[in-house]
Amino acid sequence: MEIKIVDVTKKFKNKTVIDKLSLVIGSGSFTTLLGPSGCGKTTLLRMIAGLETPDTGEIYFNGRCVFSREKKINVPPEARGLGFVFQDFALWPHMTVFENVAFGLRASKNTQNLEEKVHEALHAVQLEDYADRYPHQLSGGQQQRVAFARAIVIEPECILFDEPLSALDALLREEMRSELKALVSRLGITAVFVTHDQIEAMSIEETIQIQKEGRQKRQAAEEELGRIETELKNKLIEIQ
Ligand SMILES: Nc1ncnc2c1ncn2[C@@H]1O[C@H](COP(=O)(O)OP(=O)(O)OP(=O)(O)O)[C@@H](O)[C@H]1O
Ligand SMILES: [Mg+2]
Repeated sequence: MEIKIVDVTKKFKNKTVIDKLSLVIGSGSFTTLLGPSGCGKTTLLRMIAGLETPDTGEIYFNGRCVFSREKKINVPPEARGLGFVFQDFALWPHMTVFENVAFGLRASKNTQNLEEKVHEALHAVQLEDYADRYPHQLSGGQQQRVAFARAIVIEPECILFDEPLSALDALLREEMRSELKALVSRLGITAVFVTHDQIEAMSIEETIQIQKEGRQKRQAAEEELGRIETELKNKLIEIQ
């Protein structure tokens, strides 16, 4: 699913958090949003998901407008059909793994073949044998996989990941990252992955840098300018 963000601005009180941000996330891509703490990454994801309302601008999914203040369009989160994996996993501690994964289906009254769907999602993250356990009986990596299973069970076209690996140790993070990429590409899901970790971002092909106040860094343009400058300098040396 292609996500297009056009001139989106968001203020909290009088503080601009996202300032006229425009970007396109390609269909089927695994895109990282990289930026320092407080630059508005979570806010941007929440606006894509419909959990936060932009002040201005428009958001499109596959060319369909899901938000426009001008056109008075604001599709509610449950109708946007996105999966969301939060930083702290947000599993229900009093529910089993099965019930945690089933929760999204029950909430959207999508209970046909529920058992089969939950088992399929648990199979995809290799946790079929853990359906009856509670979150506290799982390791951090396993809890993370339950959160993934919960996001994919609703068969979304796109999953938003908000720094999903930051609670894990370095080795497990590396492992989960490649597992996650393989899983998402096998299922043909578009993924948006937020991180403030440069190394994490480097291991993912498409990276969009978000700077302070949600401005997108013009990385390519700057690189191009630098290249031209060096070329000109070299030419100058040649002439001299
Ligand atoms: N509901 C809110 N009310 C007021 N201010 C908010 C609210 N949500 C976020 N902010 C502010 O907006 C700014 C951006 O927050 P956001 O959570 O989007 O940053 P982030 O890039 O996800 O940071 P981090 O990497 O630390 O998770 C911060 O200054 C934050 O304090
Ligand atoms: Mg955040």
